[in-house]
Amino acid sequence: MATSSPTWTKLASLTDVPDGESKAVRIGDTRSVALFNVDGRIHATDNQCPHMGYPLTRGTIRHGVLTCEWHGRNFDLEAGGCFNFECDDLETFPAEVRGADIWVELPEWEYLRKDEHMQLLQEGLLSEDRWTISKAIALLLKGGVSEDEVVALVLRHIGRHISTSHGSEGCEDVSRLVNGLNVGRRYDAEDRLIALSTAACAVSGPAAKRHDVMPLPDPVSWEQIDRWVRVFSRDSQSGRIERCLFTGHGLGCADRILPLLLECAVEPRFLGFPDNITALVFLSEAVDQFGWDQASELVFNLGAKLVGRGRGVPERFRRDAVELMAELKEAEGSGSGAYDEDAFAAALTSGSVERSFRAVADALNSDAPLDRIITTLVMLAADRMARTPVNVEAGWHELTTEMNLAASLRSVQRVAGDDVAAMGVYHVAWELFAHRWVNIPHRALSEALPSTGSDVTVDRVVESIRTLNVHGVGDEALSVLNGGASAEALAHEVGRAILWDNTGSRIVPTLRTVVEEWSRADGHPAQSQLLVGLVRYATDVRTNSDSGSSATTAMRFAEGRTTVEVFDR
Ligand code: FES
Repeated sequence: MATSSPTWTKLASLTDVPDGESKAVRIGDTRSVALFNVDGRIHATDNQCPHMGYPLTRGTIRHGVLTCEWHGRNFDLEAGGCFNFECDDLETFPAEVRGADIWVELPEWEYLRKDEHMQLLQEGLLSEDRWTISKAIALLLKGGVSEDEVVALVLRHIGRHISTSHGSEGCEDVSRLVNGLNVGRRYDAEDRLIALSTAACAVSGPAAKRHDVMPLPDPVSWEQIDRWVRVFSRDSQSGRIERCLFTGHGLGCADRILPLLLECAVEPRFLGFPDNITALVFLSEAVDQFGWDQASELVFNLGAKLVGRGRGVPERFRRDAVELMAELKEAEGSGSGAYDEDAFAAALTSGSVERSFRAVADALNSDAPLDRIITTLVMLAADRMARTPVNVEAGWHELTTEMNLAASLRSVQRVAGDDVAAMGVYHVAWELFAHRWVNIPHRALSEALPSTGSDVTVDRVVESIRTLNVHGVGDEALSVLNGGASAEALAHEVGRAILWDNTGSRIVPTLRTVVEEWSRADGHPAQSQLLVGLVRYATDVRTNSDSGSSATTAMRFAEGRTTVEVFDR
């Protein structure tokens, strides 16, 4: 904050602030100014402690140092400098005694602390402190800094964080960030801040310095890069892939990088590594949204780690599946048989990898467009989520993997083309086979589930999520949908309930998939299962631990309120 047309204002009488005492004076709706009388001299500061907003009038002063009562942050009473880490400086104001009154020179409010708050966000990301991250984001947004600029900083952090602290498991961070941001855009105010803060917190952590990756010396062509990446992927040499990708970008071939990585990721040898495909899809979204300048380190490093990861020795089923997929891929023809969705789904859940993969080959050779086949995969996964038994082990990780992998094939199709997405269908089939232990009886997707209730409202469904009514919430959601309520309204309120629980960042990838797949499934008999499966999942894994207190407090903080006022509210 800085002076722009400052005005002197009478804030109190001298008798209101006796020697050694302090007084808070409210300015406008939210902010308050602290007046201190130290040995007969009046000092004026913002009353909100820059750390977490405690009223500084409750602090103590010794040797010109103001100490906040709550966590003990120290400030120079005269100029406001803070002596501690992860805390802004305190704003101070000129004060004068005129006759019997105290006058303070108050500036017009103008946001000039962007650099400090960007630094604060960076510190919060490094120290993994949820409050610091939430506060910095709330202050930046309140100051008019664009959400894109805030996210760009987070994206640069995750690039360095993953490149220096994570292996291929960093794809989980990318999923939570990209999907959290995507879901957050459907909300506003506190809901949006909680989504943004949660996404940023999910990718916080150490980010050490590292040497720049240098491009390979000239002459190198894209054709060589393409060939080497495939070879190094086969040989699990991720470090060499990163340098190749960096070089390919320097050759002006940026738009070929993600298609190449996806081609590697769908190879048969990566059966059983579904996060390769989903993470590459999220990386391509990050590039689309923020450009290569912001996303390059993340894409090159994590992309290389994914397609260059070790696969271990495959067990018998996976070894057979890899060989079968390679064989079927070679034998692909241009058949035109009729597509039978129920028969296809039955084969996928038959527990026989041979039957499942041959059904995939038949479907890909049938008259069905790839998009239709992907819809079947998504609806099958949704139906399994809607019906999985929840008494023992529901298999949520496995079931959501099936659904999110299936839905990601639409982006694979867009980024890398039909042939690559078609290979991805085998990967979904493998996941379904590998999860055969999840005990869900098969049923035909062409039959809609019968509704079991009536007069159920959206609020009732949300209440069931909050009260962990996992045995009833699915039927309630189905009743709401069959009763003609808006699916968008149900999804929106369910999404809010998800965002405000500390399991939110885990669920947002599936929440996003369900919302995006809903309209694509229009007219499909199993469409309702998308939302039924989501509410059952969200309810069963919910902990009812509020993740939002730091976000709401941060929002009030950004308005200038002290913590006491926030809690009083
Ligand atoms: S030190 Fe003042 S609120 Fe924490």
